[in-house]
Amino acid sequence: MIASRELTIFEQSFAADVQVGLSRSGQKELPSKYLYDTVGSRLFDVITALPEYGLTRAEERILRGHAAEIVARLQAPLTVAELGSGSGQKTRGLLEALCVRHPTAYYPIEISPAALAMCRREVGDIQAISILGLERDYLDGLAEVAAARRHGKPLLVLFLGSTIGNFDPPAAANFLQELRSLLQPGDALLLGTDLEKPVPVVLAAYDDPIGVTAAFNLNLLGRINRELDGHFDLAEFDHVARFDPTARRVEMHLRSNRRQRIAIEKADLSVTFEEGETIWTESSHKYSLADVLRMAQSSGFRCEAQWVDHEWPFAENLWIAE
Ligand SMILES: C[S@@+](CC[C@H](N)C(=O)[O-])C[C@H]1O[C@@H](n2cnc3c(N)ncnc32)[C@H](O)[C@@H]1O
Repeated sequence: MIASRELTIFEQSFAADVQVGLSRSGQKELPSKYLYDTVGSRLFDVITALPEYGLTRAEERILRGHAAEIVARLQAPLTVAELGSGSGQKTRGLLEALCVRHPTAYYPIEISPAALAMCRREVGDIQAISILGLERDYLDGLAEVAAARRHGKPLLVLFLGSTIGNFDPPAAANFLQELRSLLQPGDALLLGTDLEKPVPVVLAAYDDPIGVTAAFNLNLLGRINRELDGHFDLAEFDHVARFDPTARRVEMHLRSNRRQRIAIEKADLSVTFEEGETIWTESSHKYSLADVLRMAQSSGFRCEAQWVDHEWPFAENLWIAE
C-alpha cells in the first residue's frame, strides 16, 4: 500500500507498479509503458533512426508504397484512432491519403505527453485533418473514441511498430479481444508485426553500438529517481538484450553489477539486488505470418490483406472486425 499523501494519481500508480514489480521473489520486472517519459520518448525516436533498428524503415516502406491500396480497401468516411502513436512520422503518409479522399478525424492515443506533442507537430499541417490527442492508456482511449463516434461511421484503428509484441502471447490475445469488443463489424485494424529473423540481427536492433537503446532502458531508473525519489546509481546497472528462442522474443533487462540496496522513497520501498540480478523491462515478440493469421481469427477479425517487407521481414496486416 502506497501512502497517498502528496502523490498525484499517476505517481500513486507508478509507485504501486514499482513496488509490486521490484518486490517479486523471482524475476524483478517493471511495466514497459514507464519507459516513455519525455526523455524516453525522444530516445525512442532516435532508436527508430538507428541503422540496426530496421523495423521502422520496413514499416515506412510498406506504408509509403501501399498507402493508396490500403486506403482503397477501407470504407469512407472513417475515423482514425492510433494506439501509441509515438511521433506519428510513419502515419503521416497514410493520413494524407485518407484526407485527400475525405476530411478525417484522427485520435492519437498516447500515455506519453511528449510523444503526443511530437505527433501533433508531425501531422498537424495535413489538409482536412482534425486532431484530438488523448493522453490515455490504449483501450481507455479507444473506448472513448468508440463511444463518441457518429452513428454508423466506421473506425480504423492503427497499432503500428509491432507494439503488440510488447505483450506476452496470452496478454496479446486478451488485448486484441478487448480491442475487438470496442469495435463494430466492418471496423478495421491495421496492425504492424515484426517477423522472425536471424538472432544476431534481432539482438543488434535492441543493443546498438552507440548505446541509445541502453540509455532508453536506463532512463527508466532515472525516471524512478526523478519522479519517485529513487536512489539508483545508473552507473551500477547495465543494459542487457537477450533472445529467448522458445518464447521467440527479445527481452531487455537492467543488470545490477554489484550487490546493492536501493531506497525508493515515494514507493515506501527498499530493495536488494544481488550482483548480476536483473529487472526485466520490455519484451518484443517476433512472429511468423501464420501466427498473425491465428491471432486475427482468435480475436474476432478476418485478415483482409497482408503486406510484407522482405528487406527487413515485417508484416503490415489489415484486419476487419467480423
Ligand atoms: C514501441 S513505441 C511505438 C511508437 C510508434 N507507434 C511507432 O510505431 O514507432 C510504443 C508507443 O506506445 C506508447 N505507449 C506505451 N504503452 C502505452 C499504453 N499503455 N497506453 C498508451 N500508449 C502507450 C509509448 O509512449 C510509445 O510512444
